[in-house]
Amino acid sequence: MNRKYRKKNVAEVDAALIEQIAVSIEELHVGDHIKISTHHWLNHPFLKSEFIINSRDQINALKDYGITDVIRFSSRSALNKKSHNETEGTTRPSFRLSSSDEKKARIKAFVDNYWNGHKEITKKLHELASLSRQIKDAVFKKNSIPLHTFDHFYQDTAPLLKTSSRLIVSGINIHNESDATRLHCANVSILTGLLGHNLGWEDQEVSDAMLAALLHDVGGELVGGAKVMRRRRARTHAMEQAYRMHPKKGAEVLAQTGAFSANVIAGVLQHHERMDGSGWPGKLMGDSIHKYARAIGITNDYDLMVNSFDVQLCESPHTVLATMFYRFREYYDAQFLATFIRTLGVYPAGSFVQTADARVGMVIASATDNTSTNPQLLFYDAEIARDQALPCSLSESGTTISRALAPSEVPEAVRIYLLPSHVLGYYPTT
Ligand SMILES: [Fe+2]
Ligand SMILES: [Fe+2]
Repeated sequence: MNRKYRKKNVAEVDAALIEQIAVSIEELHVGDHIKISTHHWLNHPFLKSEFIINSRDQINALKDYGITDVIRFSSRSALNKKSHNETEGTTRPSFRLSSSDEKKARIKAFVDNYWNGHKEITKKLHELASLSRQIKDAVFKKNSIPLHTFDHFYQDTAPLLKTSSRLIVSGINIHNESDATRLHCANVSILTGLLGHNLGWEDQEVSDAMLAALLHDVGGELVGGAKVMRRRRARTHAMEQAYRMHPKKGAEVLAQTGAFSANVIAGVLQHHERMDGSGWPGKLMGDSIHKYARAIGITNDYDLMVNSFDVQLCESPHTVLATMFYRFREYYDAQFLATFIRTLGVYPAGSFVQTADARVGMVIASATDNTSTNPQLLFYDAEIARDQALPCSLSESGTTISRALAPSEVPEAVRIYLLPSHVLGYYPTT
């Protein structure tokens, strides 16, 4: 993908938005891209201050509310009119809330649930990340392994895995490569648990697969640590040889403790095997790869592509799923990959998107069922304070997603407004 080209695209869109003039409501037509400038966002009942008019009813609704003048974006409006007919189309019920008080109540509920939810996710993921560190330390120091702590974590998390209807993300603050490695293990564990549950696995299987996922890169510490493990685009030949030893080294060190089941060890040993036999270290094929390793193979690749300490290396979650499906699907178990995509949604939470009306937003929650084509979005708006922004579903937004944006394509101020840190931590919620 050519990042320079995509960056230029966003700049061009911004330039188009600058061309704006004040017009009377009487001059508006379907297809006009407008902004309500006479009322503060919080004090009018419309879902957005800026939108494309898609029916005469919307113009009437603005008039009924007493709005006489709006700002019109000329270039965007001219483009839109080519694709809109001047009809009496029906206004979306969601275009206007019953009152500005309803809007304020929805914003408050969102702030209370979503941002507090972020704190909770961050706490849980840090807990899991530190648990991975404790288990690894015990393995290397030949101490007794705190598996009961993992069992407690699983007992706490299992009900959420079973009842979650939405997958949300939080931007997790990490300070160095070691933090990034620990968070990677926690993310892969949670995503593997969700995948296993959605594949219909038994409780014990889901728990074992999550444990294998939490420890899948334990061998990394025996082949050079983060220096080798996290330099995915700049390994020398010797480093690559060392890197490819980590599944085997990890499985061996876990086996020596006598504390882990053969299934957990197989999950660790085989997590880089591929269904088409192109993986390593055993060049195993198809069902000869343990199902935990087939699951971790997917969740590990996903997290590696989505998350990096360096924002320039992060891909959009949407793009990563598309890449896995269209370019690399022969690597993965087809049923597992289909279930994973269904679990995350076509636009997984954490995907930055550009919409057809040239706004930038982020998917804040994707449904884990078949409503995933209608994700919840939070839009950037420089005129609305971050804690007064109201998310809406894609269908409510009155627009469509034109493309996913890599985090590096989103201006830093916009990215921070939508998500405080570019590193995504996943957690299910009800
Ligand atoms: Fe690995
Ligand atoms: Fe990994």
